[in-house]
Amino acid sequence: MASYNLFLLPGDGIGPEIMVEVKEVLKWFGAAGIASFETESGLVGGCAYDAHGKAISEEDMALAQAADAVLFGAVGGPKWDHAPYDVRPEAGLLRLRKDLGLFANLRPAICYPALADASSLKREVVEGLDILIVRELTGGVYFGEPKEIVTLENGEKRAVDTQVYTTHEIERIARVAFDLAKARRNKVSSAEKRNVMKSGVLWNQVVTRIGKENYSDVTLEHVLADNCAMQLVRWPKQYDVILTDNLFGDVLSDIGAMLTGSLGMLPSASLGGVDATTGRKKALYEPVHGSAPDIAGRGLANPIAMIGSFAMALRYSFGLGEAADLLDTAIANVLAAGLRTKDIASAGQNAVGTKEMGAAIVKELGSLAR
Ligand code: IPM
Ligand code: MG
Repeated sequence: MASYNLFLLPGDGIGPEIMVEVKEVLKWFGAAGIASFETESGLVGGCAYDAHGKAISEEDMALAQAADAVLFGAVGGPKWDHAPYDVRPEAGLLRLRKDLGLFANLRPAICYPALADASSLKREVVEGLDILIVRELTGGVYFGEPKEIVTLENGEKRAVDTQVYTTHEIERIARVAFDLAKARRNKVSSAEKRNVMKSGVLWNQVVTRIGKENYSDVTLEHVLADNCAMQLVRWPKQYDVILTDNLFGDVLSDIGAMLTGSLGMLPSASLGGVDATTGRKKALYEPVHGSAPDIAGRGLANPIAMIGSFAMALRYSFGLGEAADLLDTAIANVLAAGLRTKDIASAGQNAVGTKEMGAAIVKELGSLAR
């Protein structure tokens, strides 16, 4: 049985409690003889700041670099609102993305039939939805320099963030989107703001060229990012793969999440390029939701996005597509059977806690494998 080494970074807020449920899932896969997972844990975000005054330590960065994959919970909370900017909890996540070269962020938004009524949109708009947002993750305004607040001669302050993209950064994320579309419904919708931004003009040109040169069999359309936001709530099923930059991807994927009923449902994978010497891809898997400090520690959090992120690890890091399908089916079945955490329960419906949801998914894995 193949064995893999996972580095767990539960982080802050609900991160630790949802990570506990993933550990149970890992154990199940080992006991079932499908694959075994060695785990080590570290600190990231506010808890790392409390322990060593940094959002992630050098030791933990080295462990993340060495692991076959990183599983990440969530970071941040009001406790660290006044932490210095450079060591704020989010800096740990951004450093992991940058230093591991995780330029491709895959955020699938799937609306399970059982949850169509949990969405704030009408059932017919979201039922059966299956779209994939491909977000560029190591460039754009998140990392562009200069990034600063300076004081002008007149005493006024001036804040600058820089939106910057080079040809190769756009090419490589475009290829990821086109390749994924080929295994889906063959359509890429590229979202930018070419009507206002130079980076949007270049983005549009490069994506168009890559499409023509290498993916003439995939339908490519261009959409302005603001219009894409509107279309996502009007009729999201028109989309297959949405390809977009770091900042627009951040915003559009939160919209995508709510189409599925709850932010607690959306998993994600952040992937790097293939390392020429090891042949491996660096990867980090994380739920799209945040640390939800308001419900942290109360056993109420929905562990599905975290467990779904592990399903993505099975698929994208370990080539265990069937195991990933099994886990996705277990999640769908548990939902179909009516189990709901608070975030996805409709009015009057009974809600279960984090542990019950996690245990039900593990139990369902057992029934499916029999
Ligand atoms: C996300 C989050 C992060 C981002 C934060 C926590 C830095 O919102 O992964 O979408 O803005 O990328
Ligand atoms: Mg976000």
